[in-house]
Amino acid sequence: MKRPHHPFLLLWTAYLFCAFAAKDEAAEVDEESHPDPNVENYSGMIYIGRLDDDGKRVGFDADNGIKYIFGTGFDETHRKIEEADLHHEHYGPDSGHDVADKAHGKTREQVLHEKRIGQLDLSKGPKPFGWFEEHPLDGGAVPPKVVRVEPFFIDEAPVTNKDFGKFVRSTYYETEAEKFGWSFVLSSFLPNAEQLQSAEVDPEAKDWVAVDKAYWRSPEGPGTSYKYRENHPVIHVSHRDAAEYCKWVGKRLPGEREWEAAARAGHFGPNNRTLYVWGDEQATEIAKEYANLWGDGDFPWENKAEDGWRATSPVKSFKPNAFGIYDMTGNVWEWVRGGKHKNRIVRGGSYVDSLDGSFNHAATLGARATLHGTTTTGNVGFRCVKVPKRKVEYHYVYENEDSGPQLVIEGADGKRKQFQQYARQDYGVDESDDEFDEDNDVDPTKPRPDETRGRKKVVKPRTLTSDEL
Ligand SMILES: *[C@@H]1O[C@H](CO)[C@@H](O)[C@H](O)[C@H]1NC(C)=O
Ligand SMILES: *[C@@H]1O[C@H](CO)[C@@H](O)[C@H](O)[C@H]1NC(C)=O
Repeated sequence: MKRPHHPFLLLWTAYLFCAFAAKDEAAEVDEESHPDPNVENYSGMIYIGRLDDDGKRVGFDADNGIKYIFGTGFDETHRKIEEADLHHEHYGPDSGHDVADKAHGKTREQVLHEKRIGQLDLSKGPKPFGWFEEHPLDGGAVPPKVVRVEPFFIDEAPVTNKDFGKFVRSTYYETEAEKFGWSFVLSSFLPNAEQLQSAEVDPEAKDWVAVDKAYWRSPEGPGTSYKYRENHPVIHVSHRDAAEYCKWVGKRLPGEREWEAAARAGHFGPNNRTLYVWGDEQATEIAKEYANLWGDGDFPWENKAEDGWRATSPVKSFKPNAFGIYDMTGNVWEWVRGGKHKNRIVRGGSYVDSLDGSFNHAATLGARATLHGTTTTGNVGFRCVKVPKRKVEYHYVYENEDSGPQLVIEGADGKRKQFQQYARQDYGVDESDDEFDEDNDVDPTKPRPDETRGRKKVVKPRTLTSDEL
């Protein structure tokens, strides 16, 4: 014989079930809303942020941005920035101010004066990267600044042809090189020498030839293919193409400072900055283990490929830097965020560059060039970054206004946002109430009679997360 179902029993069971379900959900949401940077990992990405003594990532409750010296690798003026400067906040584009720190008894005017009378001598020794007279395409921060970078994740390697192919197949994305119908290819790579006769070259870079129908799938023009280079960085992509790809994978292009902080891999102080990933040695023997550069041969016709590659190399073919990031120097230049459309920034140098800048660019950690945003060439690619989830605390405050109850959200910064509340929609389950309350059949759209709303601060703060991309 079947047991009769008591309708009330059913209701009770349903209630309990809901109560537990609701509680479970609440617990889960609670956990997720307190992101611990130590559990947030993205495959193929490296975390750049502060670590504590045990090597664990510092949480957002503490200051976990890193400060470092941003500037060129060639000039030595960063040594004038005292260690203590790393602990001061320096913001803004005024680099004079960054050296002129009141704590060191110098005003901005004094620093500028020293610069003018040559005490901060920028002309001796190797030229800073981006010495304008020599490389009109280059930039660089001289003197360097102390800057701050918030934590982020960066791709451990540049985006490959294979990665980019997925994007194109999923979105039918047409790159700018395809739209324009041509792209720049290094002259010595052209399969047919006769193409050089009628070649249009970039007046700023005469070894780059405008080749019709060259684009990422046909890196040297019709008849060539990326097929055997699936694991090489994608090339012939414009700044926009790069940004669109990153957006598609839920990331974004790195900021220039972020890029450099990742490239320097912790060697960001006044005393431990180095010219190159591997240190300061200017020797092909050492460089060839870390970076795909041109090497010792004469550019552009003689490439001895000491590092094993004449043009791009598969990503991760060389040793990574101290953070485990590959190909930051050499292989391809990488688009970064920012700049103006006519002056987008690329960092890192490429396979055509040299160690000392005797031809093309010096592939230092400070290597920097600017290109028109639509430029596409056979030696510029990119990688993406992602910003970790950040804890933002909001306190909900109810306030009694004449116009009705108000919901006020107070952020951690103390700023308040006000929302009109017409009625409380969600009594839901009172978590403090474990006992089933038979009389709990009030109309949930009406306030409870015992509810006091007069400037009542809701005791339990709620925490939301935001992924600030
Ligand atoms: C995420 O990465 C950090 C640092 O590499 C590691 O300590 C942590 O265990 C990782 N967390 C997970 C959930 O894999
Ligand atoms: C480089 O110097 C900075 C500032 O002195 C320091 O915080 C950092 O840990 C050093 N990096 C390494 C890898 O020693």
